[in-house]
Amino acid sequence: MANLTFPFDTETYVSRRKILMESVGSGKILFLGNQDVGMNCEDNVYHFRQDSTFLYYIGINLVNLNAILDCDSGEVTIFGDDASLDLIVWMGNQPKLAELGAKVGITSIKPSSALADYVHKDIKYLPPYRGRHEVTLRDLLGVTSLSPDMGLIHAIVKQRNIKTQEEIAQLDQACTHTAKMHETVLRNATPDMMEYHLVSMANKYVFDNNLQWSFPTILTKNGQTLHNHYHGNQIKEGDMVLFDGGIELPSLYCGDMTRTFPASGKFSSMQASLYNIVYDSYQTALNDSKPGVFYKDVHLAVARTMVEGLKSLGLMKGDVDEAVATGAHSLFFPHGLGHMLGMDVHDMENLGEIYVGYDETVEKSTQFGLRSLRLGRRLVEGFAITIEPGIYLIPELIDKFKGENMHADFLNYAEIEKYRNIGGIRIEDDYIITADGNRRLGEPLANDLVSIEEMRTEAIA
Ligand code: GLY
Ligand code: MN
Ligand code: MN
Repeated sequence: MANLTFPFDTETYVSRRKILMESVGSGKILFLGNQDVGMNCEDNVYHFRQDSTFLYYIGINLVNLNAILDCDSGEVTIFGDDASLDLIVWMGNQPKLAELGAKVGITSIKPSSALADYVHKDIKYLPPYRGRHEVTLRDLLGVTSLSPDMGLIHAIVKQRNIKTQEEIAQLDQACTHTAKMHETVLRNATPDMMEYHLVSMANKYVFDNNLQWSFPTILTKNGQTLHNHYHGNQIKEGDMVLFDGGIELPSLYCGDMTRTFPASGKFSSMQASLYNIVYDSYQTALNDSKPGVFYKDVHLAVARTMVEGLKSLGLMKGDVDEAVATGAHSLFFPHGLGHMLGMDVHDMENLGEIYVGYDETVEKSTQFGLRSLRLGRRLVEGFAITIEPGIYLIPELIDKFKGENMHADFLNYAEIEKYRNIGGIRIEDDYIITADGNRRLGEPLANDLVSIEEMRTEAIA
């Protein structure tokens, strides 16, 4: 049985739909809810994950529902079926759709079989991200190629990009849980454990609290691999562990945090030097992230802090601004500073990352590194974002840059080689943009070197 809690009042769902229908103006909108997906046969299914847009507007966390919003009449209809006796025998009873509809202010409920009669070729819909939805849309519309509605995409992004106070309260909860999960691992991991033992500690926190992951966990001593989901290595004294994990509440609001820590109590001096540059870069981002500032400019300011730090270590050289302009720092920082956060860890990216993180005032770069920045637009009060600078020594990337003598005016390859096998460091926390700056979401977990070492020293004592 799905989690049928309703984190918000009926009025919230009614008002969200009203704002959307007024913004779209006219015509009908089709929202497809998600179905169960078979893992290896139809009845052995993955954890059910409702579509975030469907849950945002319709509020019911149940399989096999669709909805149509009529912007001209204001009528909203849910298409779905009450549980059959057969389903009740296998899966248990569930509230009737009429009862669930009442919780979210929807009285018009029709059977799934009626949906086709209400879909016409001009209906507005979103880009499908699951094969089954693509097939459903083609069948319903009788077309071979789909044309998601750009006006609908922009209206949803405009609304969901600004978090309301009740959404911020959910994000605070998700981020507090995420911080506690990280603290559990930081305070209990010991050298010689396997990476999967640490994942297991984090999992225990998630399942003890009846929560879910907001994305597949990254926990590795090879933090230089950005999205490393392999957990089979043994951790040893001297290694650094990078743990990037986040918790999703039943409401689907997410946290997304990273801590990098020494397996033993202390970072080595080389690790500590790099850690402190990442920490200084994070402070630059905190200082600069406020309404009216392009996040692309915050990313570039962070890159300058990084280059200054790497120059002081002897890994980079030359003019800082020129180094950043040419993208020389991308050898160490090949990803973006952060992204929107909400009911999706990369919020609404199923609608198109470019529409969420960019607008007509800022273009996405094609430069290596900067092209991976998911959020470039001006920050606005109510945006929930991640701040996640990192420095990585990726041997294959070093070999390519060095082999082609790339950015030779700015990269000191002889020194870089000394750090070649050090791994990767990232610090990531979640923030809400406020009227005059930003505020950390949830109860904070320290990320400075001294506090990390204190927590680690206690863990291995
Ligand atoms: N967890 C993936 C990311 O930080 O974007
Ligand atoms: Mn992350
Ligand atoms: Mn992130």
